[in-house]
Amino acid sequence: MPETTSPANASATQEAEIAAALGRRSVVLVGMMGAGKSTIGRRLSSRLGMPFLDADAEIEAAAGMSIPDIFESRGEPDFRDGEARVIARLLDSGPAVLATGGGAFMRKETRDRIRSKAVSIWLKVDADIIMRRVNKRRADRPLLQTADPEATVGLISEREPVYRQADLTIASRDVPHEKIVEECIEALHELLCGGGAKETNDRMGVTP
Ligand code: S3P
Repeated sequence: MPETTSPANASATQEAEIAAALGRRSVVLVGMMGAGKSTIGRRLSSRLGMPFLDADAEIEAAAGMSIPDIFESRGEPDFRDGEARVIARLLDSGPAVLATGGGAFMRKETRDRIRSKAVSIWLKVDADIIMRRVNKRRADRPLLQTADPEATVGLISEREPVYRQADLTIASRDVPHEKIVEECIEALHELLCGGGAKETNDRMGVTP
């Protein structure tokens, strides 16, 4: 019996092609606090069959204390040095989907490392969504523990020109997470495999 191509295994092929094209490279998610880097990253990693790593969690494990405690006891510059070291180690540890903290990509050395060892995706998010999402978890985020959290979100305009240097940009918004993950997969496939998605659809007789 001839093999049939169902939409499910066509998408599995797309993911396998991405993983093959990545080789030893990782996928790194960058963007503001509240952009959904960990949530999307975890789902993306399971779709791609790659491990998921969370830079903030790894920094906390390496320091043996929470991020607010690191900021409090050692200060932000020390946190940033540790963050750069941890990300360098994670990028060397083999292909993975890596969610980075919102400030990590601001450091040139880290951006250069990400460029040579990974494909980066900026999860771009509007200020009002950030405010709503991070208000719930402000205690975990030292940069938001100011009298004027709106000012902190002013960081967006400072950071956006830098996030824009990522290889891909995906709008993170209030739609089901799977939709954002699907868009990441499509964009990765287009970038790494020359946009075979349309061809796959054509083969399946699907009108794009
Ligand atoms: C930071 C974002 C946080 C964390 C730290 C600093 C930032 O990570 O690394 O509080 O500078 O934007 P998330 O983006 O995962 O919240």
